[in-house]
Amino acid sequence: MMDDLNALLKAHGLSEMPKVLLAAAECAPLSKTGGLADVVGALPKALKKLGVDARVITPYHRCIKEKYFEKTEHVVDFRIWLGWRNAYVGIERLDVDGVTVYLVDNEDYFGRDIYLGGNMEGEQYSYFTRAVLEALPKLDFQPDVIHCNDWHTAMLPMLAHTQYRGGIQDRVKYLLTIHNIAFQGRFDFGFVQDMFNVDPCYYTPEFIELHGCADYLKAGCVFADRINTVSPSYASEIKTPYYAEGLEGILNARHAVLTGILNGIDRDFFNPETDPNLRQNYGVSDYAAGKAACKRWLQKSMGLEVREDVPLFCMVTRMTEQKGFDLVACVLDDMMCREDMQLMLLGTGDERFEKFMAAAENRYPGKLCSYIGYKEELSHQVYAAGDFFLMPSRFEPCGLSQMIAMRYGTVPIVRETGGLQDTVIPYNRFHEEGDGFSFANFDAWEMRDAMRLAMACYKDKEIMDGLIGRAMRKNFGFEKSAAEYARHYIWML
Ligand code: ADP
Ligand code: GLC
Repeated sequence: MMDDLNALLKAHGLSEMPKVLLAAAECAPLSKTGGLADVVGALPKALKKLGVDARVITPYHRCIKEKYFEKTEHVVDFRIWLGWRNAYVGIERLDVDGVTVYLVDNEDYFGRDIYLGGNMEGEQYSYFTRAVLEALPKLDFQPDVIHCNDWHTAMLPMLAHTQYRGGIQDRVKYLLTIHNIAFQGRFDFGFVQDMFNVDPCYYTPEFIELHGCADYLKAGCVFADRINTVSPSYASEIKTPYYAEGLEGILNARHAVLTGILNGIDRDFFNPETDPNLRQNYGVSDYAAGKAACKRWLQKSMGLEVREDVPLFCMVTRMTEQKGFDLVACVLDDMMCREDMQLMLLGTGDERFEKFMAAAENRYPGKLCSYIGYKEELSHQVYAAGDFFLMPSRFEPCGLSQMIAMRYGTVPIVRETGGLQDTVIPYNRFHEEGDGFSFANFDAWEMRDAMRLAMACYKDKEIMDGLIGRAMRKNFGFEKSAAEYARHYIWML
């Protein structure tokens, strides 16, 4: 891998690896609401191993301040204009497992939740964007590439190239990673002008206008030097109207610089052999006893019937339409009444799904349980205890949960879309291949059939051993993705 990268460096006439600053709204383990944080946490660590000086810039959210305040070091502070607002910017530095993280401090914007929703969220991340641009010349680090992630940081290249011409902000290259095209940051143009004083000549369909709004993600797609998304399948899907949410035009126009790079997971953090949250640790050679102990413990502590012989399906998920919770809602009663199975859900999200689960739990005591909330330790315990991991997403840019589940020997059942299709090989009984189950259409009966097939296999120890072994041995480490990102950074210089 290193040899390839060195050869590429040479071919581009470069003497050293690019320096990269990742800008993102969340970064694990400091702040996290989903997979974006996992990626922003794991990628720079893996890049460092390849010799890329990768650092992160992210908001100093309240949850970070509460835990890491003592460990931060003040770098600089200054004030910026955000429309008529004159706001404080503090830059603090924190070392996280050898990676330098710059934290943008402002109590008004980051003293509450990570995402404030609506126009408030627009203002939060417009402030962050302006703060990053103004901080660049003041940092003790001059990146060659700024790696933007999702709409929250997608305005960086446009502002850099239109408002900082000739400055270091303009000379840097920009990679935009789309983790989820469903969120684009769409606002009234008046609002965006108020935030950034954008020249109205850019409020056209060639630039940032979409469906009568100014669209931050579209601006990123227009102005970034390269664009990628988080799996090859999703990179194809977002060129079609069904998945692209209105961005198919610009993504097709820029297809030559659009690629899919599959995410990985942090194999040290998600490791059943050493995970301190588990009742009993285990590896691929002794998973049976370890997983059984974890299953017993979870069943007992969550009020499920303690039984080894019943298949335990689990979900760890944001409860939104993306994750296909409506399919589960369709067949839940049918399955709970007919099948000898258990379901454990850890999740939070849309109120209607949360209420549905709470009511269903009362109908099937001992068979069904949910924990509505966000809890990292419990998620590890669920990944370890389950027999099957259900992820019937309507769309899935990559999905990390299915990879984590496989690492913990929990066999995934997924819909064949985006990254789920790229990471799970469906079970083939003729060739004894595969590490999970899948179904093609977004259809509750198809999902139920896949679950039934899984339950039939559960009765056969040899089949399950094969599935679990193949799932656990699969290497979803970040090394491959990091090398691919390094290649992209080099191509841009
Ligand atoms: P997405 O980012 O779309 O939510 P991913 O599968 O990429 O989906 O990543 C989800 C990440 O968030 C995983 O690390 C998963 O374990 C974690 N997660 C999701 N919901 C919860 C929850 N309720 N409690 C703890 N962790 C959760
Ligand atoms: C988004 C996507 C998810 C992906 C994650 C990290 O939240 O919904 O599929 O794994 O970003 O890239």
